[in-house]
Amino acid sequence: MTVDANAKTSGSSTAADDTPYAIEVQHIVKKYGDFIAVDDVSFNVKEGEIFGLLGPNGAGKSTLIRMMTTLIPITSGTAWVAGHDVAKEPNAARRMIGVIPQALTSDLDLTVEENLNIYAKLYDVPAKERKRSIDELLGLVDLTKWRDAQTKTLSGGMRRRLEIARGLVHHPKIFFLDEPTTGLDPVSRVAVWEMLGNIKSHRQLTILITTHYMDEADRLCDRIAIVDHGKLVALDSPMALKASVPGSNVIEAQFEDPPEDWEQRLHTLDEVTSVQHEGAGMYRVLTGNGSRTTTELVEMAVEAGVEVKSLSVQNTTLDDVFVHYTGRQLRDELQKAYAFVMPQSPGLRP
Ligand SMILES: Nc1ncnc2c1ncn2[C@@H]1O[C@H](COP(=O)(O)OP(=O)(O)OP(=O)(O)O)[C@@H](O)[C@H]1O
Ligand SMILES: [Mg+2]
Repeated sequence: MTVDANAKTSGSSTAADDTPYAIEVQHIVKKYGDFIAVDDVSFNVKEGEIFGLLGPNGAGKSTLIRMMTTLIPITSGTAWVAGHDVAKEPNAARRMIGVIPQALTSDLDLTVEENLNIYAKLYDVPAKERKRSIDELLGLVDLTKWRDAQTKTLSGGMRRRLEIARGLVHHPKIFFLDEPTTGLDPVSRVAVWEMLGNIKSHRQLTILITTHYMDEADRLCDRIAIVDHGKLVALDSPMALKASVPGSNVIEAQFEDPPEDWEQRLHTLDEVTSVQHEGAGMYRVLTGNGSRTTTELVEMAVEAGVEVKSLSVQNTTLDDVFVHYTGRQLRDELQKAYAFVMPQSPGLRP
């Protein structure tokens, strides 16, 4: 992390490679009564970066976005966007940012174009520029054919794309998106991310995005901050985060009626750094040597007379990074997210 709280006197700091910071957050705190929703979080986002905020339900992702986008007051600490202190110059900050909130907010009774027009007027985009910008954005989000359709006739994925276009009508420099793909089917999710990539190649944008989907974040984010219980627990590029977890392969194996001490026995295999029991005889084993551990695991099962029902070996994923730093799983299905998993290394969590 590149935070130097003492050096900060204006909103024009740069990263070590001289890229200016688009967002600078320093020691930011949000309290609701006695409850601390965001607890002393600091990070910087470079101009042009796609920066991901990852964390389970209630981690504080939306609260962070709301503070950075002037929607709620900051309890303490500072946030600068495009060089403006959001607490002291909220209007200047607002002109530089586009925001897609977590809930869908386009007006269902208006057409696609009307929804975009209202926003463009709200942001004082001149009439001539309005039409040009809306035409361009409809093309970028692939909704040109639907410009006269009533918004209520659109699918969830199309509405998300409309909201992405709407957030960009006033040519913001920084785009905040709060879970733009949650609830979408896999095909629509890919379409939304492709659109964001497409938009970024057409416009100079810094993107800060929250998501529950680790695979998306892995592919698309330059850097990722993991938040949990209001605290920042890890921040780096997806590759560096994965490298920071002990073990380079994940073996997922399902056994028929394994004995009670199976988890402990899996732990004793060579190079194994952690074992999670996921229920129904399924185990997730992190290892520094996938092939050797797989061989030993199969031998151990044969010796113990335990049938191996399925077996797969993969590289470490961001899911493993999340478990490592938070001690819990974060999967697409959030009902699984709170399965208790003992982390091998206590990491940064108390
Ligand atoms: N207005 C409020 N009053 C009191 N508590 C709040 C308020 N808004 C949020 N919180 C609490 O702050 C914590 C962080 O909430 P936040 O919405 O930022 O989480 P999140 O990471 O965005 O979660 P999700 O993935 O579910 O969207 C939660 O425990 C939430 O209940
Ligand atoms: Mg949220």
